Amino acid sequence: MKVLLTRKLHGFAVKELEKRYDVEIHTGKIPIPKDLLISKIKNKDGLICYPYDRIDKDVIDAAPRLKAISTYSVGYDHVDVKCAARKGIVVSYTPEVLTRATADLTMALLLTVFRRIREGDRLIRKNKWKVIFGPYEFLGTDLYGKTLGIFGMGRIGKAVARRAKGFEMNILYHNRTRLSAKEEKNLGVRYVGLDELFRKSDVVSIHAPHTKETNEIVNLKLFKKMKKTAFLVNTARGKIINEKDLVFALKKKMIGGAGLDVFSKEPISEKHPFAKMENVVIMPHSGSSTVETRREMAEICVKNLVLSLSGKKPIYQVKI
Ligand code: DGY
Repeated sequence: MKVLLTRKLHGFAVKELEKRYDVEIHTGKIPIPKDLLISKIKNKDGLICYPYDRIDKDVIDAAPRLKAISTYSVGYDHVDVKCAARKGIVVSYTPEVLTRATADLTMALLLTVFRRIREGDRLIRKNKWKVIFGPYEFLGTDLYGKTLGIFGMGRIGKAVARRAKGFEMNILYHNRTRLSAKEEKNLGVRYVGLDELFRKSDVVSIHAPHTKETNEIVNLKLFKKMKKTAFLVNTARGKIINEKDLVFALKKKMIGGAGLDVFSKEPISEKHPFAKMENVVIMPHSGSSTVETRREMAEICVKNLVLSLSGKKPIYQVKI
């Protein structure tokens, strides 16, 4: 069987694949241009792809032999999963292993915006630290006692709730489906409607998947409901937020600031309005970016593909 990787993966993972298949690895421009992907996928049985590869109907239609798509990500909004399902192609992904790393980065963004870490670092590097210490110098905000609003209470949302509990925050959440009373009690979280979540929270953190329903669901209407001091954190998908509205809300000081790991069009450059705002902390889509996690993702991604290509159930199959 023939397998295509749209970019290089860890050496051990590639070796596993090469033991079994004829493997082609795209080494040029990333993401692989669509016409090149279409020409390469024509004779392939399996595909390993990444969150920035658009595996749409055109690509799937161009691959009559394709049996399995394994994405190196928890998100799969870049794959037309319905089209794949119609053609009997198994789509698999890598949840769970990246939950902790993504929740950790969320807390890092939270702390960075609350305690102004980016500003403090810049201040010193620009030689602007003049007053040593004082009652009103460089004040941040306590996490203790503040309300965290979690939008999307899946694996990552829950891991963030567990961490926030350690910081003694109050936790509200909104999700498509409400958790059981037992789980709410164990996590110490309270279910509220979306409007109430944005109205009551001192920081809203997004952990929902990007779907038709969540596309730009976080927009001016919700920013208008937020406290002027509140922050927004996003480690999920950029397109869940209407970015123009967010830039407007930040410029007009309708909210206090934001910590963003994802953007509607990636990568962004230093010219992006977010990059020019002191109260915004930006990261280059790095939620799962730790040595340990990325290795585990590679392992799962390969296992998923191998299982799917041998007609077995992958460890994590996308269900539609
Ligand atoms: C995912 O897995 O979907 C992440 O966004 C990639 O780190």
